[in-house]
Amino acid sequence: MLKGKRIRLIPLEKKHIDLFLKWFNDPEITQYLTMYKPMTRDMEEKWFDALKHKEDAIHFSIQIIEELESDKIIGNCAIHNIECRNRACTCGITIGEKNYQNKGYGTEVMELLVEYCFYILNLNRIELSVYEFNSRAFKTYQKVGFVEEGRKRQARYRKGKYHDEIIMAILREDWEKKVKE
Ligand SMILES: CC(C)(COP(=O)(O)OP(=O)(O)OC[C@H]1O[C@@H](n2cnc3c(N)ncnc32)[C@H](O)[C@@H]1OP(=O)(O)O)[C@@H](O)C(=O)NCCC(=O)NCCS
Repeated sequence: MLKGKRIRLIPLEKKHIDLFLKWFNDPEITQYLTMYKPMTRDMEEKWFDALKHKEDAIHFSIQIIEELESDKIIGNCAIHNIECRNRACTCGITIGEKNYQNKGYGTEVMELLVEYCFYILNLNRIELSVYEFNSRAFKTYQKVGFVEEGRKRQARYRKGKYHDEIIMAILREDWEKKVKE
């Protein structure tokens, strides 16, 4: 378990699959994610069961420390594609409970995830991608210290238009500079 000021990150649990189904079948959420097909319980359970064999990924659910007695989770986050040789990974986050968005939790989760990657996993580079119309996520990642490295032009189709996919990353040296400031 990873503990921050207001949130903590716990392992994914099968009992929360109903929430995953709610979030990942909601177009308001999935418009920002790679997944777009309707998700059935069977698909979600297969995905969950396959996670234990995936050595290059670590998944967490997000809990609010002040609301622990309710056993509620508000979203998920994950580290993917962990590369031992390059000491690099990618990451992702979803605050699926919409009334918990825009309250600073996403920023805190990403900061905790970055600390974990650099100081527990001893990684050196964390990469993510964000669609250009997702200004809130872009802003969140910038606040944490991710910088734009490039764009995959017109890589994503949404509502009749193509949009750029922005590649962002943070290096351990960037993070160390930031925490000293
Ligand atoms: C993206 C996400 C993780 C951000 O987490 P969050 O808890 O909502 O974000 P925070 O409250 O920590 O920070 C959001 C920042 O963006 C700003 N913001 C919100 N809406 C914005 C918009 N439309 N344009 C620009 N900035 C915006 C907020 O003001 C805040 O910045 P501030 O602290 O300087 O005021 C969360 O909203 C989410 O999961 N969204 C749905 C799925 C998703 O987009 N996942 C990421 C895919 S790349």
